[in-house]
Amino acid sequence: MTEKGDKWILMATAQTPTNIAVIKYWGKRDENLILPVNDSISVTLDPDHLCTTTTVAVSPSFDQDRMWLNGKEISLSGGRYQNCLREIRSRACDVEDKEKGIKIEKKDWEKLHLHIASYNNFPTAAGLASSAAGFACLVFSLAKLMNLKENQSQLSAIARQGSGSACRSLFGGFVKWIMGKEDNGSDSLAVQLVDEEHWNELVIIIAVVSSRQKETSSTSGMRESVQTSLLLQHRAKEIVPKRVVQMEKAIQNRDFPSFAQLTCADSNQFHAVCLDSSPPIFYMNDTSHRIISYVEKWNRSEGSPQVAYTFDAGPNAVLIARNRKVAAQLLQKLLFFFPPNSDTDLNSYVLGDNSILQDAGLNGIKDLEALPPPPEINNVTAQKYTGDVNYFICTKPGRGPVLLSDESKALLDPETGLPK
Ligand code: DP6
Repeated sequence: MTEKGDKWILMATAQTPTNIAVIKYWGKRDENLILPVNDSISVTLDPDHLCTTTTVAVSPSFDQDRMWLNGKEISLSGGRYQNCLREIRSRACDVEDKEKGIKIEKKDWEKLHLHIASYNNFPTAAGLASSAAGFACLVFSLAKLMNLKENQSQLSAIARQGSGSACRSLFGGFVKWIMGKEDNGSDSLAVQLVDEEHWNELVIIIAVVSSRQKETSSTSGMRESVQTSLLLQHRAKEIVPKRVVQMEKAIQNRDFPSFAQLTCADSNQFHAVCLDSSPPIFYMNDTSHRIISYVEKWNRSEGSPQVAYTFDAGPNAVLIARNRKVAAQLLQKLLFFFPPNSDTDLNSYVLGDNSILQDAGLNGIKDLEALPPPPEINNVTAQKYTGDVNYFICTKPGRGPVLLSDESKALLDPETGLPK
């Protein structure tokens, strides 16, 4: 394999974004291959604020595949990991690192073991699609290490087998997961609709909503919906195909009113499918519902939509503002209704690109206390809900996966192959 015996370690480190669907994936036609019942469309979020970093390493001295997530060793025995690893290994090619004097032949990859370390720059417990960024990053970094010749869409079909929504994290900007027709899943993959520069005025504010309840996982929730909801069948057959066409057009034309109308309607329909399942599944809570009604009232009072909302399998609100000025106003309104506890610093309550706080004229807690109630809400209902939101994250549409060539960014020690 190489002149250096079994001392060498070869590594690759990558960073991959998370994504939020504006036309939802909900329901599989094949559980093992993870094939969906409808197309979906997402926006990739800026990896500076929400991403997974993964280092993968190979060495003849490793005696088994091992993985660490946020510093803790986890099992790779699950079917989804095994499917991804098998698919990638079978496509691995010759690799040569002349500088390090390492040569790996295609056939060697079957015998060599891997170490994988992965880290999310956001709390896994916040319920922000960590599996999407995680599986996308695993597949992307291994593809680089093993010199795969597949293009990004072909890689997305491998990431899909880790978690459906992961296939959309292989690209930046707006992305469509084409459901495909083949039984073997070869045509169920993601394509980029437009890159992150196409609609770069958009600003995204995520409200991480407090919740005591443990939610049903997406995987089991969608299984129950497929088995029991007639609305899901109708949605997949009659509604989504038309909506996907309209959404693609709205994105191409940067038509915010249509984009917002479709995004909100699709989120609401996904949650209606959850309610239509037996037993019903509740992902949103009172705080989520309040945010929806504030946004609806504001949009109505403006005469055309300024903000779109969408909710995944949990209570967190993802709010998409048409531009930065609207985002600053949105943040004022949100902070009026959901102020932090008095001992919280504003900079630890509004995370990500919190320069929007300055645009909103909010430099400290004192400025919050002076905020007037939003005019579209009558004073009687302008009640405050301190503590109902854990924090906000301000972000924007972002780029796809990147390889980090700076070795100091690696999560594994280049000498031992163990987490740093
Ligand atoms: C509500 O991709 O997490 O976020 O394929 O079973 O891993 P599995 O499910 P997952 O489901 C995501 C569902 C959703 C909508 C979406 O992202 O499209």
